[in-house]
Amino acid sequence: MSTEGVNVTRRRFLLASTTVVGAVGTGFIAYPFVASMQPSAKTQAAGAPVEVDISKIEPGQLLIVEWRGKPVWIVRRTEESLKGLKEQSLLDRLRDADSNESEQPDYAKNEYRAINSEYLVVIGICTHLGCSPSYIKKDDTHNLPGWWMGGFFCPCHGSFFDLAGRVFKGVPAPLNLVIPKHAFFANGTKVMIGVDPEGGAT
Ligand code: FES
Repeated sequence: MSTEGVNVTRRRFLLASTTVVGAVGTGFIAYPFVASMQPSAKTQAAGAPVEVDISKIEPGQLLIVEWRGKPVWIVRRTEESLKGLKEQSLLDRLRDADSNESEQPDYAKNEYRAINSEYLVVIGICTHLGCSPSYIKKDDTHNLPGWWMGGFFCPCHGSFFDLAGRVFKGVPAPLNLVIPKHAFFANGTKVMIGVDPEGGAT
């Protein structure tokens, strides 16, 4: 993308952010937070893995859990959004499309940044200065560009990430969102955050 293209993209994002900030406050409460699944404070402090039942997450829905004191988002992606993550028109807009500079386990260094493409498991902390972005669906009524396929918006300084947590060019955040170690089990109805699929805890 040319420098001019980047500037145009950023301007569009900055323009869009004004509307998004106002709307996010009301939308946020719609996201379920699995308080009952939180380990005790003592267990958390020890960095224990967190087990999450994902069997009730609907396509397109975001679930928030806490692991090691951080928000972890689990998004069940739709078929449409999975296709969108591979589109060149999106890849051209990303700063680290192949996640070469970003942090994720080896088994999540792929186009979906996931071991199970249907589910994105990502730490919900902006890689700029640590704010927690908000989930913005494709069809949410924000003033976003027509090519927006869904993703995350950080209101602190206007950074955008796609549905694989990949950061867009022209925003302050330097890297993709971090993918924690995680493993699916119980026929894919549960995920354990903080362990590799082989079972080794971080
Ligand atoms: S902390 Fe997210 S854009 Fe600055």
